[in-house]
Amino acid sequence: MNTFKISASLLSADFAQLGKEAENVVLAGAEWIHLDVMDNHYVPNLTFGPLICASLRKYGITAPLDVHLMVRPVDRLIHEFAKAGATYITIHPEATDHLDRSLQLIRDMGCRPGLVLNPATPLNCLDYVIDKLDSIMLMSVNPGFASQPFIPSALTKIKQIRQLLDSQGFDHRLEVDGGVKIDNILRLAEAGADTFVIGSAIFNTTNYAATLGNFQAELSKIRSHGHF
Ligand code: DX5
Ligand code: ZN
Repeated sequence: MNTFKISASLLSADFAQLGKEAENVVLAGAEWIHLDVMDNHYVPNLTFGPLICASLRKYGITAPLDVHLMVRPVDRLIHEFAKAGATYITIHPEATDHLDRSLQLIRDMGCRPGLVLNPATPLNCLDYVIDKLDSIMLMSVNPGFASQPFIPSALTKIKQIRQLLDSQGFDHRLEVDGGVKIDNILRLAEAGADTFVIGSAIFNTTNYAATLGNFQAELSKIRSHGHF
């Protein structure tokens, strides 16, 4: 089982000072930085492009950059984000005509490929590509906006994917994105998630270290119960 990671989503950060926000949240204990890239086409919102990713690297952010592409078409931006310093690049199967090719492109560009499933996307989209992935991410909200309520069926889906990964001997990261809060992170970890994207529940608070400490304390309950 992988160690737990918290991937802080900058979607709820102060966009006027993204470098500082990323630096502060890493100093406060977030292991990864999550970038929600939205194009006003695949999702009805518009955020940031590869220049922001490159700027974060230039600013001195060395933490893994977890780039979640909610864009269609996706291949050209895979190139651009890889060159801009992305670590993980995670794509939606609905956003590419040639999923196998797009995942291979992420690998060829030196990044870690991830596949992200919307709440209603069936698990069979993993057939034939699971061996090409380093991570699987489950949306527990519909993609496009921060601060949406958690969709409970994601818990069942996490358990199913955990079983699938374990039965086939894969150690992919199993990430959950959307509505992760202090009152559900333990259940998500118990269901089998190991990587937690958290946006508003961090950035809408004033003391990031205290907030992340509370999340880590919840996760340590599962560690001390000897699950892993
Ligand atoms: C939604 C994004 C999420 C979002 C999560 O499309 O993929 O990463 O930032 O935000 P919270 O934690 O506020 O649900
Ligand atoms: Zn995301």
